[in-house]
Amino acid sequence: MRLSSVSRYLLVFISVLSLSRVTNAQTAPVVFYPFGSVAGDTVNISVEDENSTLVDLWRPFVFFGRTYNKTYVNSNGYLTFNQSSSEFFIHNFPINGSEDIIAPLWTDVDVSMNGIISYQQYSNGSVLAQATRDINQYFPDLSFTATWVLVATWDRVAYYYHSGTETSFQVVLISGGDLSFILMNYGDCAVTYNAVQAGYDTVNSTAYFVIPGSINGSVIPNLMNSSNVNVPGRWAFRVDDGPHQNNLPENIIGVQMRVTSFSDLTENGNIEIFLEKLQQELVESGLPSSVKLNLRKIQKTQP
Ligand SMILES: *[C@@H]1O[C@H](CO)[C@@H](O)[C@H](O)[C@H]1NC(C)=O
Ligand SMILES: *[C@@H]1O[C@H](CO)[C@@H](O)[C@H](O)[C@H]1NC(C)=O
Ligand SMILES: *[C@@H]1O[C@H](CO)[C@@H](O)[C@H](O)[C@H]1NC(C)=O
Ligand SMILES: *[C@@H]1O[C@H](CO)[C@@H](O)[C@H](O)[C@H]1NC(C)=O
Ligand SMILES: *[C@@H]1O[C@H](CO)[C@@H](O)[C@H](O)[C@H]1NC(C)=O
Ligand SMILES: *[C@@H]1O[C@H](CO)[C@@H](O)[C@H](O)[C@H]1NC(C)=O
Ligand SMILES: *[C@@H]1O[C@H](CO)[C@@H](O)[C@H](O)[C@H]1NC(C)=O
Ligand SMILES: *[C@@H]1O[C@H](CO)[C@@H](O)[C@H](O)[C@H]1NC(C)=O
Ligand SMILES: *[C@@H]1O[C@H](CO)[C@@H](O)[C@H](O)[C@H]1NC(C)=O
Repeated sequence: MRLSSVSRYLLVFISVLSLSRVTNAQTAPVVFYPFGSVAGDTVNISVEDENSTLVDLWRPFVFFGRTYNKTYVNSNGYLTFNQSSSEFFIHNFPINGSEDIIAPLWTDVDVSMNGIISYQQYSNGSVLAQATRDINQYFPDLSFTATWVLVATWDRVAYYYHSGTETSFQVVLISGGDLSFILMNYGDCAVTYNAVQAGYDTVNSTAYFVIPGSINGSVIPNLMNSSNVNVPGRWAFRVDDGPHQNNLPENIIGVQMRVTSFSDLTENGNIEIFLEKLQQELVESGLPSSVKLNLRKIQKTQP
């Protein structure tokens, strides 16, 4: 029997759809470092070890002046150093507490439903070369050489009570002796109505950072498209001795305004007042309140 052209078209379309679904399910997010059992990771940590796993570090890791020889990979999306933590209620940064914490995505995760948490350390090989390359790209002029890397990955993990939700993220600790860095990498992150937070915080909050938008569970799917280093889905921070300025990404926007005289702009701090008002407007329309505006350039245009 001959198919009409319409049904042939339909057949082709369906097979392409299912093909792309299969490939998506097997493809790791492009920004991820190697992970999972195929990469040789230690897997299923939290199921066995009650939500946290102690990792003895092969090299000391310096975090804002404190040197650590161990870390805990806690299933709810964050690392601590002095003790394990199964805290699934987030505390907003800055906590001003007594613990250092690195939180690629702190929220209530439940891997007994689905997902795998895994980690691996490296002190040689291609992952070190990748880390060296990435850090020199994002932080030029340091001539950095990575000597140790820890990769911890939450691969398609479920939110507590929501079997079937899939959220993927990764934190990469990179050390080159006195210099240290972290990368936070994001794949698909499902919407959640639990509290969330991505960033880091230190003892007494002398240094801390919250990724803009990461405290609103409705908008965390955007994490895979956000960045402070121009690589969608990746955030990079220098964390050795603080406090460093880990800058928010800069976006340049143009705003046209009408003034009666050019001196209106330069007199009486009018620019500052204007920027403040504009910031309020932007925050009201959804930008995080951590947004900062700076004047780059004023240009005269035709009326
Ligand atoms: C992890 O644990 C789950 C449930 O306990 C099991 O189904 C799965 O096969 C384990 N995965 C690995 C890689 O061991
Ligand atoms: C592990 O996490 C679950 C929630 O995801 C919690 O109910 C349980 O008490 C935690 N276990 C421990 C030992 O903290
Ligand atoms: C970490 O290890 C280094 C070298 O092995 C040692 O000098 C240092 O005292 C250790 N630090 C802590 C806090 O245990
Ligand atoms: C945490 O560990 C660091 C490094 O070992 C140490 O300097 C610090 O005093 C510890 N903090 C607490 C609260 O135990
Ligand atoms: C942080 O906590 C200390 C007490 O531990 C307090 O003295 C200080 O004012 C707090 N700082 C902030 C910024 O809340
Ligand atoms: C790299 O490190 C691993 C783990 O410590 C070790 O087994 C392996 O021999 C090392 N490879 C090289 C080329 O040094
Ligand atoms: C943190 O603050 C407390 C209380 O103000 C102080 O005793 C402690 O020395 C501070 N710790 C650090 C690491 O700054
Ligand atoms: C979170 O984001 C959504 C979508 O942009 C918005 O509708 C909602 O008001 C935000 N919630 C909070 C608490 O900011
Ligand atoms: C992220 O960017 C890609 C490519 O621009 C787009 O297809 C996708 O919808 C974006 N995702 C979100 C959650 O914004």
